[in-house]
Amino acid sequence: MSHENYIPVPAPDRRPRRLRSTPAMRELVAETALRPADLILPMFIADGLSEAREISSMPGVHQHSTDSLLRTAHEALEAGIRCIDVFGVPRDEDKDADGSESWNPEGVLNKALGALRQEFGDDLLIMADTCLDEFTDHGHCGVLSTDRFGNIIVDNDATLPLYQKMAVAQARAGAHIVSPSGKMDGEVLAIRDALDAEGFQDVAIMAYSSKYASAFFGPFREAVGSSLQGDRRTYQQDPANARESLMEVQLDIDEGADFVMVKPAMPYLDVLAEVAKMSPVPVAAYQVSGEYAMLQAAGRNGWVDLDAVMMESLIGIKRAGADQILTYFAIEAARKLRG
Ligand code: PBG
Repeated sequence: MSHENYIPVPAPDRRPRRLRSTPAMRELVAETALRPADLILPMFIADGLSEAREISSMPGVHQHSTDSLLRTAHEALEAGIRCIDVFGVPRDEDKDADGSESWNPEGVLNKALGALRQEFGDDLLIMADTCLDEFTDHGHCGVLSTDRFGNIIVDNDATLPLYQKMAVAQARAGAHIVSPSGKMDGEVLAIRDALDAEGFQDVAIMAYSSKYASAFFGPFREAVGSSLQGDRRTYQQDPANARESLMEVQLDIDEGADFVMVKPAMPYLDVLAEVAKMSPVPVAAYQVSGEYAMLQAAGRNGWVDLDAVMMESLIGIKRAGADQILTYFAIEAARKLRG
């Protein structure tokens, strides 16, 4: 059959390709833009390290010493990033059932927050991870107790006062933002009350409002040397559910959250889009360790173009509705955006 036998079709009068014809045209009509200041860099400070140690499942991401933490934070600021999120990695011998090292002013995280605030003042926002799991010897995000049937449970209400102590210690050390990620009910209200009572009205709360019990957190467990046995399914959300995220977000806003978050990002873009529609406060999304590790692994194998999938994944998260994106790619992506 030759082409003369094709039935002629009328030319379309709508031609979407007109708006894709040149780089200038594509830039003119781009609906979504990513800025370096949209990106938040998560960082790990480890006790007792004299130099940075790379996390094997997260190539390019390190457990930091104080020196390398400050050096990398400077690189972030120079790339145009305005906020870093700091996680503490204490020594095993400093972990206990309550995670008390988390509110010790001399603890690894609080000392690092102080050093960062001293170094950067208000030029770089210092956000602290406000969760016990890095500091407990059992690795759970709250304290354990026994219910009336003899089962070991993560005790919601007994955990709240510990989060209050931790958040106040972080504010005192110099954090601009605290970020409760433990998924205890009522944690935002408890922390807001404690911060206000101690005179820290200016310290903001970024709430991990919609956080799923996700296998994509896998590499993070190596990053923080987690002691966890088992899982977090009694406090983090079931991946099958979207609707409850809207309630979680609403509750956290009512309790005083200044930002809400959806986490992980890429497998939960539907949730992110719904939250972005209803939230009156900024909505952050966290591209977690497993998302980072997957893209790195495929990139390092030559199966995808790493720079291209990095930027595509971030613009996708922004397009779905994120105002801020926590990502381990923050410095590389910000540098690319600056050209
Ligand atoms: C808990 C916490 C986790 C992450 C951030 N905060 C781990 C978990 O809930 O098990 C995961 C971050 C990542 O995977 O990049 N404090």
